[in-house]
Amino acid sequence: MVFTIPRRLLVLMCVLSLAAALLAAVPADELDQRVDQLLRQMTLEEKVGQMTQVTIQVVSRKSADGKHELDTARLYDTVVNHHVGSILNVDPGAYSLEHWHEIIRTIQDLATRKTRLGIPVIYGIDAIHGANYTRNATLFPQSIGMAATWNPELVRKEGEITALEVRASGIPWNFNPVLGVGRQPLWPRFFETYGEDPYLVSVLGAAYIKGLEGEDNDLSQPTRVAACMKHYLGYSFPLSGQDRTPAWIPERMLREIFLPPFRAATEAGVHTLMVNSSEINGIPVHASKTLLTDVLRKELGFRGVVVTDWYDVINLYEREKVAASRKEAARLALEAGIDMSMVPFDFSFYDDVLALVREGKISEARIDQSVRRILRLKFELGLFEHPYPDPNLKTQFASERSRRVALQAARESLTLLKNRHQVLPLARNIRVLVTGPTANSLARLNGGWSFTWQGGDESYYPPEKLTILEAIEQKLGKERVIYLPGADYDRTLDLPAVTRAASEVDAVILCLGEPAYCETPGNINDLYLPEAQYALARAVSGANVPVVLVLAEGRPRLIHPIVEQMDAILLAYLPGLEGGPAIAEVLFGEVNPSGKLPFTYPKFPNKLMCYDYKHSEIAKPNSYDPEFPFGFGLSYTRFAYSHLQLSKKILRPGDSLEIQVQVKNVGKRAGKEAVLLYLSDLVRSVTPPVQQLKRFAKVDLQPGEAQTVTFHLTEADLRFIGPDNRTISEAGEFRISVGGLSQTFRLEK
Ligand code: BGC
Repeated sequence: MVFTIPRRLLVLMCVLSLAAALLAAVPADELDQRVDQLLRQMTLEEKVGQMTQVTIQVVSRKSADGKHELDTARLYDTVVNHHVGSILNVDPGAYSLEHWHEIIRTIQDLATRKTRLGIPVIYGIDAIHGANYTRNATLFPQSIGMAATWNPELVRKEGEITALEVRASGIPWNFNPVLGVGRQPLWPRFFETYGEDPYLVSVLGAAYIKGLEGEDNDLSQPTRVAACMKHYLGYSFPLSGQDRTPAWIPERMLREIFLPPFRAATEAGVHTLMVNSSEINGIPVHASKTLLTDVLRKELGFRGVVVTDWYDVINLYEREKVAASRKEAARLALEAGIDMSMVPFDFSFYDDVLALVREGKISEARIDQSVRRILRLKFELGLFEHPYPDPNLKTQFASERSRRVALQAARESLTLLKNRHQVLPLARNIRVLVTGPTANSLARLNGGWSFTWQGGDESYYPPEKLTILEAIEQKLGKERVIYLPGADYDRTLDLPAVTRAASEVDAVILCLGEPAYCETPGNINDLYLPEAQYALARAVSGANVPVVLVLAEGRPRLIHPIVEQMDAILLAYLPGLEGGPAIAEVLFGEVNPSGKLPFTYPKFPNKLMCYDYKHSEIAKPNSYDPEFPFGFGLSYTRFAYSHLQLSKKILRPGDSLEIQVQVKNVGKRAGKEAVLLYLSDLVRSVTPPVQQLKRFAKVDLQPGEAQTVTFHLTEADLRFIGPDNRTISEAGEFRISVGGLSQTFRLEK
């Protein structure tokens, strides 16, 4: 019997199957199915292994000639016997692309061919200012300098280039960006932040994430990596300023200042998160169900993978003393909501979690929840299809195009803080003395996370890159430059020689600042520079020639003792591998500086105020009187602001307020200007800050050129954390300030 389908039914069936095919193509569903299918086949051991991350030292040894190599027996034990799903880090310093490829290939060979289910390993790395653990990578200014550019587009490009170079190294996961708001300048990780303002951090953090993950966060693209926002939450604000020490942050402040960048990053689609290594209000964040589950998952809606920081599950037991045993620590962290433990030296987490499940203290369903997230990330990254490094990406690694972006970022970061009698730019035909501990060092221009963890090993830096001294010599010719170090970081050298040399030249370029450091080894006791550096400044300032201070530092070290003697001050932050040339270009006028401070530069060690202070803090005799205020930065040209206009005097919820201001270059040189818009809530139920940054834009103007800059605000921008810690707005009067102009409007509800 022949069964024939009526024509119309056939058409209908075709339409339906096409629709089904389209639906099946929805990647999220497909992904979930693949994840579930795989999960169903996994043993408990395989699952817990996926949640375990170890450092590369666990699977490494030194070869006969002292080089790093994988220890295949230990690797086998790790990946095959212990089912470990993730490896991280570098040891002891950056590898070549080739070595990375060898490492990743070997790991993935084992994982995909020798394990029962062939699940690829996910390798994670700290690529903090470029692919800083791969030899010869493009290195950008550290984030504090990127923030000083006020240019989200440059930050996004940094993310893109970093992703490309990290992926070219065969690595799909980057433990960056740092989204802690930098309001404690003593903290040795200040340079990893985007400064003191939550809005600026939110905008730049989201731009960087889009750079790493792409506009659509499609991680299967071969040049993208998964971003990891860190360190959630409040890590950047230790009371003592020392790394990994307690923060005391009331809920209102947590929500007002520290949470918004993580919310913005979640909205930007970030795939992973790393936890604050320390504690807030007495609760280690790794043990905080409130923060890791209630706020993060339920409130922010974060769906990705939560990885612990280094050793921090064990720390709950050994350091924080909130768990009576290592196993209890693992239980606490799991209950709080972590998915993967950066153990990182052994399989203790694996053993402990297996025991916890077998004892019935943790359910297998809880394990499944985390493993699902981890497998999903691996699928999204395309690791099952492409576990190996893509050799084709090598040709794009450290390209000239990327170098130019890093150079542009360095140029736009440089912040001119003082320029008495327009001493800068210097003429090209003068003789200069270059002196100081940061004058002839690439490490000191790059800081921590540069080829090595601490960044201080000069032998890792590409020899063709220029220090400040070398860049100046290249510009003026060696015969016009005298170089005397004058002082090391905390030790004076031959000061009388420096004084003599200063009197023989037309200008002194005095390079002060910090050695490279990162994390706890970078702790300091106060913000003053060592006395040796002030002594050097005094030694050159008596010579009656202009002294230009160039500061290479990751946090604002105090310059009050010498500020008066300096004719010009250029803050370079940690400008990266192109920092030397960029500094020379600004000093000699080829580039007009446009950086603005993303933090308040304090004058005194104990008067640490941020720009969004309360009215009582400036009620006489109190004052906001820093060395240089937030948002400050000079140019070789001048900008005039006029015509500040608001589209309405009354704003209602649902409406948008348009704000326009005209910015004109009234000087003689082309220049870029970051236009910052502040909002003041004049009266509200929780004491208002005097002002808050709400929008910014950067314009590029020829001499005489004017541009109207347009911003929009809605009622949502007027909200704050109310008396009961909920987000609210209150009707009343508000003031908008831009470039010294201001206008008021009312919110009516
Ligand atoms: C740091 C993290 C980093 C991790 C892995 C920790 O010490 O706090 O920021 O991602 O090490 O290197």
